[in-house]
Amino acid sequence: MEKMWAGRTAGAVNKDADDFNSSIHFDSKMYKQDITGSMQHAAMLAACGIISESDSNLIIETLEQILADINDGKIEINPDAEDIHMFVEAELTARIGDVGKRLHTARSRNDQVALDIRLYLRDETNGVLELLYKLIDAIKTQAEGNINTIMPGYTHLQRAQPVTFAHHMMAYAMMFMRDCTRLKDAAARMNYSPLGSCALAGTTYPINRRMVAEGLGFDGITMNSMDGVSDRDFCVELMSAYSIIMMHLSRFSEEIILWSSWEFKFIELNDAFTTGSSIMPQKKNSDMAELVRGKTGRVYGDLMALLTTLKGLPLAYNKDMQEDKEAVFDAVETVQKCLNIFAPMILTMKVLPENMYAAAQKGFINATDLADYLVVKGLPFRTAYKIVGSTVASCISQGKVLEDITLDEYKQIHELFDADLYDAIKLENCVAKRISEGSAGPEAVKAQIEYVANFLKDEGYTE
Ligand code: ARG
Repeated sequence: MEKMWAGRTAGAVNKDADDFNSSIHFDSKMYKQDITGSMQHAAMLAACGIISESDSNLIIETLEQILADINDGKIEINPDAEDIHMFVEAELTARIGDVGKRLHTARSRNDQVALDIRLYLRDETNGVLELLYKLIDAIKTQAEGNINTIMPGYTHLQRAQPVTFAHHMMAYAMMFMRDCTRLKDAAARMNYSPLGSCALAGTTYPINRRMVAEGLGFDGITMNSMDGVSDRDFCVELMSAYSIIMMHLSRFSEEIILWSSWEFKFIELNDAFTTGSSIMPQKKNSDMAELVRGKTGRVYGDLMALLTTLKGLPLAYNKDMQEDKEAVFDAVETVQKCLNIFAPMILTMKVLPENMYAAAQKGFINATDLADYLVVKGLPFRTAYKIVGSTVASCISQGKVLEDITLDEYKQIHELFDADLYDAIKLENCVAKRISEGSAGPEAVKAQIEYVANFLKDEGYTE
């Protein structure tokens, strides 16, 4: 294929160099965005009197046909084209000759690619948001069914205080809600059209950048043409947001894996989201959660790759920037794949309340409540803390838990202990008494669920 830029150079490009330089095998993903951008550009060129109305119409109609032909598989994107921009322009020119050659007036591939990737990421980010809503909704459903399901809450992976499974689930809902707003913030900053920045310095043609921006649903235009073609902050920002989503998914995965183990057995994943072993007949492995945890490293890697690529680049466009796409595509596709598997995995997992309750009973997780009991009776907290601490120590040496100690024994430890202490350390009561906003108590958790439900409604995900 003859190079569109042949002119300045005459010699043919080395075949390996040509392959090395080419980006068509990954940027062809942006064919829709590229064609849509070109259609708006052609309309603007006519509106500003830069090309004729009839040329513009012919260009737009033909671009529409090319788009339909690619969508329907009638034509294949030629891998010999250098990139998607060159392919579309070459196809256009092959169909309508010289008129097609007018499209690239007042435009450069530098602003074209900056536009395409913004449009692409805007679409994909909406897809990620939908998947996040679905996951939050699945988490909410699990929470609604487990408001009274007592389980141990952990710090340092040591049993700490009783919580409920609903409370634990809602913690993840809050994280994923922040992920949604983080994505929307980044997407809003990205939503400015760079088209018209041209190669780097703008153009001498009387173009109307705002007309194109409006036609493509942007909130405005980038205000400096050198920045317009050089900026990839929005990729870095979105990839940071994707990385944080993966970090949350990875922590959740880790818990799913732990909870599915025989040591915990707090949940059982639906068979549809597990695998067996080729040798050990008893195995049911949480491969999906493990893979999500594993793929987190990959998304972090994509982010680091792009940050590193950009760090030493002088303004304005440099070919290094072509490296943005594979990283960004990989990151967004990985996040989508992970979210896509996660939501139904959470929705279908079976909670095993008896096992959670049994684990909560054996770990002295009501020790803080026993100390609080003494505080209510008048002791300073630090004193109460000490008394309960040594009580726990003596329980452990005797193989007992706090509930096993008789009232007489308690009385010998401290005279403020009375028969009502057993009620105070009952797990159900420990949880029920947690009334502070955001806490594990059933009323507090119901408020959290309502908060999440309102979020999903405000986002237009639920009615
Ligand atoms: N394929 C290129 C990229 O992805 C398009 C822009 C090329 N511009 C240029 N001046 N070589 O960055």
